[in-house]
Amino acid sequence: MANYDVIIIGSGPGGYVSAIRCAQLGLKTACVEGRDTLGGTCLNVGCIPSKALLHASHMLHEAEHNFAKMGLKGKSPSVDWKQMLAYKDDVIGQNTKGIEFLFKKNKIDWLKGWGSIPEAGKVKVGDEVHETKNIIIASGSEPSSLPGIEVDEKVVVSSTGALELGKVPKSMVVIGAGVIGLELGSVYSRLGSDVTVVEFLDAITPGMDAEVQKTFQRALKKQGLKFIMGAAVQSVAATKTKAKVTYKLRKNDKEATLDADVVLVATGRKPYTDGLGLEALGVEMSERGQIKTNDKWQTNVAGIYAIGDAIDGPMLAHKAEDEGMAAADVIAGKHGHVNYGVIPGVIYTHPEVSNVGETEETLKEQGRAYKVGKFSFMGNGRAKAVHAGDGFVKLIVDAETDRILGAHIIGPAAGDLIHEICVAMEFGASAEDLAMTCHAHPTYSEAVREAALACGDGAIHA
Ligand code: FAD
Ligand code: NAI
Repeated sequence: MANYDVIIIGSGPGGYVSAIRCAQLGLKTACVEGRDTLGGTCLNVGCIPSKALLHASHMLHEAEHNFAKMGLKGKSPSVDWKQMLAYKDDVIGQNTKGIEFLFKKNKIDWLKGWGSIPEAGKVKVGDEVHETKNIIIASGSEPSSLPGIEVDEKVVVSSTGALELGKVPKSMVVIGAGVIGLELGSVYSRLGSDVTVVEFLDAITPGMDAEVQKTFQRALKKQGLKFIMGAAVQSVAATKTKAKVTYKLRKNDKEATLDADVVLVATGRKPYTDGLGLEALGVEMSERGQIKTNDKWQTNVAGIYAIGDAIDGPMLAHKAEDEGMAAADVIAGKHGHVNYGVIPGVIYTHPEVSNVGETEETLKEQGRAYKVGKFSFMGNGRAKAVHAGDGFVKLIVDAETDRILGAHIIGPAAGDLIHEICVAMEFGASAEDLAMTCHAHPTYSEAVREAALACGDGAIHA
């Protein structure tokens, strides 16, 4: 007799959501977690702490730059860094304890420690071996550095170290203009650091709509972030208090250096599967170290599933959650489903940036005919009222059928507005469907409707 129906390894958004879903479906469930707290990368050193620091630093930015315009006068607040970190840690604590509560409520056993799989149907945690009918690997990811760069988490840091620096540095070099680099670069820039972002490619946030990339970079520059584009970082030499970054410009091979108090290495993340014993089990892996799965999140070893950052696809918390629920459904004999064509991405900077589905660039590659409806937040009364007129909503639709293929938003509440379009895409809606839906005034979502109108006879306030 197996002790459990399912043991999940890892309690990040993939693992903990899957565990709750399994329990809801009547499966006897345990979740193994080696950290001291539940919630994985996302809650402990990822999504949640970064959003706390983005929020606090945005408040400061508003006070310094926008309060006076609205007739709010007085001294801007000063930064008590220790208190800001305490606020961030409190937010983490509330969230991780929340998962502990949900585990108890759903009668999920937390097996504390690092797990391994000695054979299919068995999970070893410490000296104990637990038997289980199914195993879901949700072991997540870890930062990936560049060859020859040693991350000490003090002067040369990954995102983890950047969330708990000893003080706000006077200068920071960020390697990589991806999501982490721009979110955490924004935090320190707002707090007063002189931030320079060094990016290998010629555009920031690779894969994103080209117009959004340009508008976004312009907005960040206006806020004080500096960019060195098309630059391959060669090395980082660090002492206990300073670092020197050497990079080579790709266009002319010219080498140059930058000095900084702190260097943030934000050049991507890689799957974390250390210590699970996957090689001995014969679990198939991709060249990039991801666990290979089929469309039911099953590995090639019967009874072993994998989800989240440890497998292929965007490294996003909500993608991991959806896979966690779907894998639980499959184990319970239901039809697990994830629509990979409709997974939104959000960058929580100011302006906020979001996207879903195809870009003009991907559609051109596919040779598909499309139409674009674009609406600037300058024509949105609500956005103008809060000094957030920069940015736009861009809707991309099939030229023939008007079916929505993708959307790209930069501006106020972009991360929330995108979901109206996600729902529309899930239902196979056309731009006309969106345009015919009444939107309350004055809301930012009117800009989405206007972009939909722009796909047809035209936006009203353009
Ligand atoms: P993880 O969250 O990485 O969790 C895996 C867990 O498994 C870890 O707790 C680990 O300790 C545990 N584990 C691993 N191996 C074992 C083992 N053998 N035994 C026991 N336990 C084990 N995504 C978003 O969607 N939105 C955001 O705003 C966002 N912000 C981010 C900000 C930062 C700074 C970072 C670094 C990431 C951010 N992400 C964000 C990405 C997001 O955190 C990940 O996509 C998400 O956490 C992946 O979930 P997961 O469950 O696959 O793995
Ligand atoms: P990323 O893949 O988004 O960006 C890495 C950047 O580094 C790229 O622009 C790349 O061109 C650049 N780069 C690589 N090598 C370089 C070199 N030698 N010199 C200069 N630049 C170089 O990775 P990032 O930002 O580390 O994020 C990792 C993951 O975390 C992402 O997959 C992301 O989805 C997730 N994440 C999501 C967030 C969100 O949803 N808001 C927030 C933070 C992270």
